Amino acid sequence: MDLHILDHRLKVTSICKDGLVVFTHPLIKLIFLRNRTRCKFFSLTETPENYTVVLDEEGFKELPPSEHLLVEDSTWLPLNVVSNGHASSSSQAVGVTKIAKSVIAPLAEQHVSVFMLSTYQTDFILVREKDLSVVIRTLEEEFNIYREVGGECVPFRSQDIRNGFQKNGKEAKITVHPVLSPLNKFLVMSLDPDTLPAIATTLIDVLFYSSSQKDGSHSNQDLDCIKFFSFSLIDGYISIVMDTEAQRQFPANLLFTSSSQELWRMVRIGGQPLGFDECGIVAQISQPLADSDISAYYISTFSFDHALVPEEDIDSVISLLQQQRHDPSQ
Ligand code: ARG
Repeated sequence: MDLHILDHRLKVTSICKDGLVVFTHPLIKLIFLRNRTRCKFFSLTETPENYTVVLDEEGFKELPPSEHLLVEDSTWLPLNVVSNGHASSSSQAVGVTKIAKSVIAPLAEQHVSVFMLSTYQTDFILVREKDLSVVIRTLEEEFNIYREVGGECVPFRSQDIRNGFQKNGKEAKITVHPVLSPLNKFLVMSLDPDTLPAIATTLIDVLFYSSSQKDGSHSNQDLDCIKFFSFSLIDGYISIVMDTEAQRQFPANLLFTSSSQELWRMVRIGGQPLGFDECGIVAQISQPLADSDISAYYISTFSFDHALVPEEDIDSVISLLQQQRHDPSQ
């Protein structure tokens, strides 16, 4: 199996709800006018708390400094597992489940904090640039590691890194975070970038005006459903995660899912905002899912983490995670 360190240097930011107007102009450019920016990695996720924007340095330059914009200090690098043809396991599971044991768990053991971004196409594991040497040392036994440089893949070894193996020497303290399971049903979709103009008005409506068209039945205060909408445009590929409510607003037949109409339920992880330094949160969730061979997409946002699991598995996932609460050593 190959692991690619992609050629993007990323910033993780958040725009507060009230400050969205300040950023509408740059966001429109980043989403719809690809030829006007050099941004190659862009992801925007609306949650009840805020808008999380993860983007490369070129994209980041487009965002005006503002009191409404919070920026995590570090530079993050996206990793991506590429399976080279021959399936190494019989598992049909997709998403973070596939990489739980080979990537997520070993990094958590080395106290490396990650930030996850699953998309329709693949799962990006973001790590801090300063942790790269630990990451390489940890994963080079299992993977052939390549660094993408200007479209080329070059083999990469830990010798290539000047500062040696600094073990992140923090004590492993496992916090079990509360989880919440809203009732929305989600779809993980994609779209040919050339047809983006055809959904533009709907996308603008959903992204920028969703909170103003209240019919009362689907408000954020409604504890049963939560606002969650994610759009990403990464290396020319579009991925959209939306609930069935949002899907009804989009023109039919332009967006596609991998298997027709597969629906996903969400587990939101965290009671208080999770921050960026704690490690092992993704591991804690993805391990039991991997043990039970349950697929999961996993999307970290500025405040919380979100796992999406097949709707028919939500009850068993919740009970697996509850079990873990009572016995975190499991
Ligand atoms: N750093 C966590 C981990 O290594 C995942 C990200 C949690 N933080 C967040 N703001 N979503 O498991």
